[in-house]
Amino acid sequence: MSANPILTDYPSQSIDIRPLSGPLGAEVLGLDLSRPLNDEDFRRIHRAHLDHHVLVFRDQRITPQQQIDFSRRFGQLQIHVLRNFQLAGHPEVLVVSNIKENGQPIGLGDAGAFWHSDLSYKDRPSLGSLLHAQELPPQGGDTLFSNQHAAYEDLPAALKRALDGKRAEHNYLAKYEELRARSPWRPPLTAKQIEEVKPAVHPVVRTHPETGRKALFVNEHFTTRILGLPEDESRSLLDELFALSVRPEYLYTHYWQPGDMVFWDNRSVMHLAAGTPDFLRRKLYRTTIEGDIPS
Ligand code: SIN
Repeated sequence: MSANPILTDYPSQSIDIRPLSGPLGAEVLGLDLSRPLNDEDFRRIHRAHLDHHVLVFRDQRITPQQQIDFSRRFGQLQIHVLRNFQLAGHPEVLVVSNIKENGQPIGLGDAGAFWHSDLSYKDRPSLGSLLHAQELPPQGGDTLFSNQHAAYEDLPAALKRALDGKRAEHNYLAKYEELRARSPWRPPLTAKQIEEVKPAVHPVVRTHPETGRKALFVNEHFTTRILGLPEDESRSLLDELFALSVRPEYLYTHYWQPGDMVFWDNRSVMHLAAGTPDFLRRKLYRTTIEGDIPS
């Protein structure tokens, strides 16, 4: 799994992994991500990520380059199609922010406005994403995560059978104009950008490539239709699945603290940004790691 050279010579850190009380998530204490991670510590973090789906690293004072280096231990990084919100000098970092400087947005302020799994519209959606808090509002700005293994496992048997073998289209442009009409963050896309986000087709139920667990893999932001069904049936089935996939018992709400870095598994969870009042400032740096072709 490690994409970097073997790192065995660094001292181990005293990592304490504490599962959260809800349906997913664990807090990682005692780990300083500004220091290189040896292979044994990396293996523990990797295992915890697979087991808990969302890891919360507290009090990380790290540079964007250190976030990139840690993210790269899990695979190649993906560059977001909205190049205008890349961090200067670090194209791998997407700035997620509602802040404007000189009247111009410095980041993507409406990232996560609908439930989604990052980059599900790509042939290779994201394995995982990392968000590192830079500036937090005194209220609001929370991020919700929903466990899609639990959502799949709880489906009625007849619905599971109906979904067997079904595939769905995911399209980056599905809600682009709707978001554009209500926010300053969505520039018109060039023909090259549109070409870069051609729709992808994925199984409605995917099998996690590392754990073998099944998960629902449709989301209200990007999934447009289930192939092989009439339009009205596809729409009502998707709406039913969207509602079933975010039942309260599958959710963890992350209330951000200064220095938090949150690392989630897009193959196991969906997420949603709850929103920040316009008059408050919020800024986070996001990296995304390329995953496999879902099967
Ligand atoms: C995202 O969807 O990556 C952003 C989530 C957030 O801002 O809380």
